[in-house]
Amino acid sequence: MDNEDYVERLKKKVRMLCEKHRAVILAHNYQSPEVQDVADYVGDSLELARKAVDVDADVIVFAGVSFMAEVAAVLNENKTVLHPVSDARCPLADFLDAQTVKKFRRKYPRAPFVVYVNSYAEAKAYADYIVTSASALKLISELDAETILFGPDKNLASYVAKKTDKEIIPVPPRGYCYVHEYLITRYHIEKARDEKPTAKILVHPEVLPENQEIADFVGSTSQMLRAIGELDGDTFLIGTEEALSYRARRIYPDKMIFPVNPRAICADMKKINLLNIMRSLETFKPRVFLEKEMTEKIRFILERSLEMVR
Ligand code: 13P
Ligand code: SF4
Repeated sequence: MDNEDYVERLKKKVRMLCEKHRAVILAHNYQSPEVQDVADYVGDSLELARKAVDVDADVIVFAGVSFMAEVAAVLNENKTVLHPVSDARCPLADFLDAQTVKKFRRKYPRAPFVVYVNSYAEAKAYADYIVTSASALKLISELDAETILFGPDKNLASYVAKKTDKEIIPVPPRGYCYVHEYLITRYHIEKARDEKPTAKILVHPEVLPENQEIADFVGSTSQMLRAIGELDGDTFLIGTEEALSYRARRIYPDKMIFPVNPRAICADMKKINLLNIMRSLETFKPRVFLEKEMTEKIRFILERSLEMVR
């Protein structure tokens, strides 16, 4: 049996198990092509959080990193949420712990604390609002405060500061995502542009501010997908994790779409694969579990934040 047949058989098996258990697979835009293909829904963090609420199923299999699976679990106390590799974590989230949130709150008692969804439950529980890259600008613009505490991504903080004229204090001062800061650099962007001089450049707000400035569009992964349909031109360079280009090519088969850097790979996202999804559906493990008190605290913050950006 060649590799293609093997992958097709695994996909069939996964779909069979989904039917058997009334399970749906929610996959982030950075998942590998075969995981995107087998998923029921593929999207950015905001879309997947919303989907997790609406979905009619008994089981959610989350193909993404652990904070995303946690969000799905918080919003679905009555569903089983499986995260096929529990140590598929987001290194950006590691920059912010609960102690740091509390310390900055004490220092700036009047400033609301807005936490990026790329953070762990312990940090979220002490925040006032939770945003994704797609909702940060809208929610923060609507807050009745001129100074906002925001963490853990300093580059997204800077993007919002520039667009809103509010003072956004990054917490901690130097939190970043290695994929966006070190693998989508000025060098990668200029090299890609040299090779494809007519291409439009789209980047995620987690890239450095000076690299946001040289792009034609800055937005969340799904906002970038929509922008490809709206911008003029037929060639696009995508400045984020490489897998978004696969998704974009599926949506726009007539356009030429390339990653700014094909080696911009989020190693944790790529820990999820067809085999561990299948095993997870067979064993119902690993299951996402958060304590009740923590779940209730975060659900309250999350629901009011989602409501504000509806
Ligand atoms: P999106 O919310 O834009 O999908 O991004 C999530 C993420 O992890 C970016 O690195
Ligand atoms: Fe986290 Fe960066 Fe991976 Fe996104 S790409 S999940 S921010 S490490």
